[in-house]
Amino acid sequence: MNEKQRLEAQQINQKNSADVKSDTNDNLDRLKNMSSDDLISKYFQTTYEPPNMRKAKKRLKKDVDVHYDFDIPLEMKAIGKGKKFLIRTYGCQMNEHDTEVMAGILTNMGYTPTEETKEADIILLNTCAIRENAENKVFGEIGHLKPLKLENPDVILGVCGCMSQEESVVNRILKKHPFIDLIFGTHNIHRLPQLINEAMFGKEMVVEVWSKEGDIIENLPKVRKGKIKAWVNIMYGCDKFCTYCIVPYTRGKERSRMPEDIIQEVRHLAAQGYKEITLLGQNVNAYGKDLEFEYGLGDLMEEMSKIDIPRVRFTTSHPRDFDDRLIEVLAQGGNLLDHIHLPVQSGSSDVLRVMARRYTREQYLELVRKIKKAMPNATLTTDIIVGFPNETDEQFEETMTLMEEVGFESAYTFIYSPREGTPSARWEDNIPMEVKKERLQRLNALVNKQSAEAMEQYLGQTVKVLVEGESKKDPEVLSGYTERNKLVNFRGPKSIIGEIVEVKIVNTKTWTLDGEMVESAVEVN
Ligand code: 5AD
Ligand code: SF4
Repeated sequence: MNEKQRLEAQQINQKNSADVKSDTNDNLDRLKNMSSDDLISKYFQTTYEPPNMRKAKKRLKKDVDVHYDFDIPLEMKAIGKGKKFLIRTYGCQMNEHDTEVMAGILTNMGYTPTEETKEADIILLNTCAIRENAENKVFGEIGHLKPLKLENPDVILGVCGCMSQEESVVNRILKKHPFIDLIFGTHNIHRLPQLINEAMFGKEMVVEVWSKEGDIIENLPKVRKGKIKAWVNIMYGCDKFCTYCIVPYTRGKERSRMPEDIIQEVRHLAAQGYKEITLLGQNVNAYGKDLEFEYGLGDLMEEMSKIDIPRVRFTTSHPRDFDDRLIEVLAQGGNLLDHIHLPVQSGSSDVLRVMARRYTREQYLELVRKIKKAMPNATLTTDIIVGFPNETDEQFEETMTLMEEVGFESAYTFIYSPREGTPSARWEDNIPMEVKKERLQRLNALVNKQSAEAMEQYLGQTVKVLVEGESKKDPEVLSGYTERNKLVNFRGPKSIIGEIVEVKIVNTKTWTLDGEMVESAVEVN
């Protein structure tokens, strides 16, 4: 009998053994005894196909099916009764929103939420793969969960989100962290009930990662984090394939939701009393390109402007697809806010070309000119990567001058991080870390300066603030955001939480504003 057959036999014997608790213990022991190659061949044969650059790039705009029939099987509706769930979320708003969907599914299975690791019966890590440090954080957390699993083998530990779409990550979990019960991908969220069921009653680590992008599943339940602001997906995936970015692989091809489904969701949120919605997508400006009829983000925003909700935002934009129709619609104002997050990534046309951003510095500046002409008060913010392979000092200086020329009021800045499977990861990363850090520091100093200057302009002005709650630092102080996304702290009665009030700015800081409520204003939407 070879090792593989012995394991199979052991597996069959184990299948007959007693309760779930001892199954979990057996499972842990057995996994520890299996070689990593066995583990990998065992799990990858059926459901897991690793990301494949060539295949991904060849994907066609073939029909995406939209499903309206999501349901939790009857036998799984009470699985979570008396049990608690905890989801840790890393990364972007898309992940935050996916967490709301998973919370919705779990709630419909009878689970209730908890923040206490020790109390939880199921813990899911909703992960981010955008940079290496995001992944390191998650692996750190996985390590922390091991003692918990050994103490309480019944707890189900799951890893989902973007990292689970990466072959190297799944391999590493299989090899080094066999106490994880469940790995599922970004296209498998709607399968959560079945996957939990398998993880609970089966004996294997459950791995289900579809590398083919999923269809659109419309009626997934959601438990939203707040009652004031809400996220609404308008599209999934990204087809831009910037050379450094893992997203087109982890999130699949661009798929737009049908306009009527989005409009209905936003109307429903408005009726529930939400005051602000943010339309979400990795590249929202490509919205509609895959639909069978002519329809774009501009058209959708026009529809949004007719809905009785005070504030509508959208993120994230790609300069290449930002068209005149959208600018024209945004310029009408109303509930469409003129804060535009427009990632530029670099100020050098040569770097932009190797990043495959598909625009030059000049084209970006031209777009900015158009936006400012149509919306003179628009706030522009951006994302910037420093230390891209071969980025010269001169090219970095071009990023610094672009930052000033546009007058960005804030920016998320990152040191380039090679992501396995992306084209740039194969290029020599030839900028020393010291140089990258120095560039980042200089850029951040400029970002801080421009942010502080933008804030100073508000001194003495009265702004409209959507009050979100008590400030993080002082429960006596309320805080909320202006239309242009500036955080304002001020004193006022708790009863105004969830309302839009007028606040006079009396002090400005680099990232926040201090204000005093204007007495007469109660709600001004
Ligand atoms: N390294 C560093 N930053 C990255 N981003 C995306 N991929 C990488 C990477 N490999 C940044 C981009 C993007 C933001 C969400 O993350 O600036 O706009
Ligand atoms: Fe990544 Fe954004 Fe480029 Fe898409 S457009 S590949 S999400 S950086």
